[in-house]
Amino acid sequence: MRVSARAERIEPFYVMEVAKAASALAREVANTDRPMIFLNIGEPDFTAPPLVQEAAMRAVRSGATHYTHAVGLDALRGRISDWYAQRFGVDVPARRIVVTAGASAALQLACLALIEAGDEMLLPDPSYPCNRHFVSAAEGKAVLVPTTAAERFQLSAAKVEAAWTDKTRGVLLASPSNPTGTSIAPDELRRIHEVVTKRGGITLIDEIYLGLSYDDAFGQTALAIDDDVISINSFSKYFNMTGWRLGWLVVPEALVPVIERLAQNLFICASTVSQYAALACFEPESIAEYERRRAEFKARRDWFIPQLNALGLTVPVVPDGAFYAWADCSSLARKLGIDGSWDFAFEAMKRAHVAVTPGRDFGTAETANYVRFSTASSMAHLQEAIERLKVLAA
Ligand SMILES: Cc1ncc(COP(=O)(O)O)c(C=O)c1O
Repeated sequence: MRVSARAERIEPFYVMEVAKAASALAREVANTDRPMIFLNIGEPDFTAPPLVQEAAMRAVRSGATHYTHAVGLDALRGRISDWYAQRFGVDVPARRIVVTAGASAALQLACLALIEAGDEMLLPDPSYPCNRHFVSAAEGKAVLVPTTAAERFQLSAAKVEAAWTDKTRGVLLASPSNPTGTSIAPDELRRIHEVVTKRGGITLIDEIYLGLSYDDAFGQTALAIDDDVISINSFSKYFNMTGWRLGWLVVPEALVPVIERLAQNLFICASTVSQYAALACFEPESIAEYERRRAEFKARRDWFIPQLNALGLTVPVVPDGAFYAWADCSSLARKLGIDGSWDFAFEAMKRAHVAVTPGRDFGTAETANYVRFSTASSMAHLQEAIERLKVLAA
């Protein structure tokens, strides 16, 4: 069957091959003294806290399961607006918030609303692979701009300026980033947005990990800069609700009817049960639990990164958010007689029973030297993984 050029342009998700191999091997070693430790998973090991679970069950039992407005429940948009005020001290009116089926749907809506066929969007290399595929799906072209550790693996205003062409429509950033867990410094972000605005472009920023921020110097929303910044967010990471498929985006007021029209047609609405459940995320008891978990993620980072460095799996920039460690494995790979992070990932999986994600999907610049570890796993698992990697590296 002939498939569309649009579908052909979406590159395969290579990490899924590694994930599949890890799952197959995991079954074989499940009953040994070294079952697989999955440090390749990009989702919290926690699940939704009790009040959220109860709210979901109440919604189901009371039959609150019909479609909502395409932009989401007014009550939920209001709670998200309050969260911006309380946590970030930023006024984001509820009417600018559109609730979606995860950040993934929010990114699709933003790209479909703003990108014409042939438009180019600048993204950092490395970055979350689906973000460039959302651009492609809207028939735009994602232009990956190589970044360095000194730039925290993020774009700078100077690089945006240098990469800008007649075809450039804007930037698609992520802060904190997947796979690096590093953020753009607020002043640099302001300068990037100035460069973009001067050229009549758009600033899209994926803030899905913003809630999981560990450093006051970075943990501010880009919405504080300008009402024209488009921010994408989600209940998946900080709120521990990956499978509930719920997120949102904040857009300039004039764009709300456009996004609403697209959302009505493409999705009708986000999951109603999840929306009612998410109202309970903002109860003081839930927020207290989320903050406890954020502290746990930070403690894992603080323990795990120095351990990786000591093993020669160098993490050049300490992540200020999310739950990833982007580690240069090239020297350890050489020591093991293998070449690059793809083979290193298979070696770690087969010999240490530790699953990690090779850099390949995240870009092309230096990604063959890097692997991504996820610290969304218990401290006991992280400690055991380090012990096994020590043996591998010995
Ligand atoms: C940077 C980034 N953006 C978006 C997503 C998609 O998240 P969601 O579950 O909200 O669709 C992910 C998921 O891992 C991500 O890492």
